[in-house]
Amino acid sequence: MNALESMIFYPSWRKCQFREAGFQSEGCVWLFFESQRFLASQVEGFIGGSQVCFLSNSVTPAQLASRLENFDRIVFVAETAWSYNVNYDEISSFLALLKVIQQVRCTEFDIVTVRSITCSAFRAVTHPHDGVFVGLGQTFAQEVDFSVRVLVLERISEKVIYWVLHGTFPSRYPIVVLDDCFLIPTLKRNAAYSRTVSHRKSSYFRTGGTYLVIGGRGGLGGMLAKYLARQYKANLILIGRSPRDQKQLDNLVKNGAASASYEQSDVSDFEKMKAIFKRHPGINGIVHSALVLKDSLICNMSDENLQSVLSPKLCGTLNLLRILRNMDCSQLDFVLFFSSVQSYIANPGQANYTAACVSKDALANILRELYMVNSKIINWSFWGDIGVVASDYYRKRMSKLGIESIKEEEGLEIIEWFLSTKIKQVTVIKASDNALKRLNIEG
Ligand SMILES: NC(=O)c1ccc[n+]([C@@H]2O[C@H](COP(=O)([O-])OP(=O)(O)OC[C@H]3O[C@@H](n4cnc5c(N)ncnc54)[C@H](OP(=O)(O)O)[C@@H]3O)[C@@H](O)[C@H]2O)c1
Repeated sequence: MNALESMIFYPSWRKCQFREAGFQSEGCVWLFFESQRFLASQVEGFIGGSQVCFLSNSVTPAQLASRLENFDRIVFVAETAWSYNVNYDEISSFLALLKVIQQVRCTEFDIVTVRSITCSAFRAVTHPHDGVFVGLGQTFAQEVDFSVRVLVLERISEKVIYWVLHGTFPSRYPIVVLDDCFLIPTLKRNAAYSRTVSHRKSSYFRTGGTYLVIGGRGGLGGMLAKYLARQYKANLILIGRSPRDQKQLDNLVKNGAASASYEQSDVSDFEKMKAIFKRHPGINGIVHSALVLKDSLICNMSDENLQSVLSPKLCGTLNLLRILRNMDCSQLDFVLFFSSVQSYIANPGQANYTAACVSKDALANILRELYMVNSKIINWSFWGDIGVVASDYYRKRMSKLGIESIKEEEGLEIIEWFLSTKIKQVTVIKASDNALKRLNIEG
């Protein structure tokens, strides 16, 4: 296995048989959003006798705490309907619920969603908005000292709800629950890189092609733009919220770009994004490289903090889907999403970022499976020389954890290779065996 291949990991699922936990349902309360009463009545049919309670922003945290404090076990269930809009009220209610649960200290907390993340067991994600609850829940499990389980059901059925109530499942990772077994996610290496790299005849990038880079003023987006200028004389359109950096655009042209323009826009602003696509027809590739990073433990996280981190990835990707749905995509070769290994490892203090990455990954799946656009995801780990965490502080912190920085030439070679394959999602990590083990990565 060569050095590059050893950095590339693929999502994989381990099948496990159900085991009874011998749990009694008396001390259990089931929580639903007020807007999902139909789901509640469906589940109620399977859980006879258990208490049901509804979440909405008209219920204050104190009221919620007094309703929940006598229960040992709390099961939250959501199946949020598909929409191009984000229901921030419900996301705020869920954040408030997590804070209340930390106060009331139940012994078991389950977060149950339906097809909210990508899994090989089902073709397409159907409830990507609930990826936010998965991401927040995964991280919450690492920030508290009681059991938090994140369960993603293939579907709601009597059998599956029985196992939600009575089965034993590991916490920390999202578990996919099927009718007759459950699946634990992991990341694995394989020989796909060496098998396919020698067959690569030419690049997936077109010489003189037109590429839109959302977050193109930033570290990774800027690096890729420069590469496309140098190697492919590309026409580049960069998007970011900050004012234009004329020096960057001039540099791109000096480096070989056929043209370089900047659109000052927030990717979460649908009308502005739609206008940008109108102004630039014939785009051959889109790279989503935008992020906002604002680390916070869930107990200290404000609604504004969560919303600002979700915005570029969740709203920004929803906007892309909405625009591409109605656009002639015959010239579009790919949409490449830069996401994070955080989707899998959910480090404490980064629940907002995990939620943003998990939901963005889920939307990228929908773009591919339902909208038939060649969408690809790279979940990067740590870039120490470029981008938002390129500082001595992070380099030292990561080095202590056994995680090395991805180098520019490595990242670019992986992008070139990945785009030329049919592989849909890879994670790129440069880490010691011990670090991988700690992160539940099989290596
Ligand atoms: N760097 C790493 O180690 C690392 C690791 C894992 C994953 N990633 C992923 O790689 C991508 C790029 O990261 P990076 O390190 O290059 O970050 P970066 O240097 O901070 O660049 C991100 C860019 O996104 C733009 N942006 C943020 N919100 C936006 C919005 N609402 N609309 C339009 N543009 C927006 C920012 O520009 P404005 O502020 O001007 O809008 C910024 O230039 C991200 O998707 C990240 O999740 C990076």
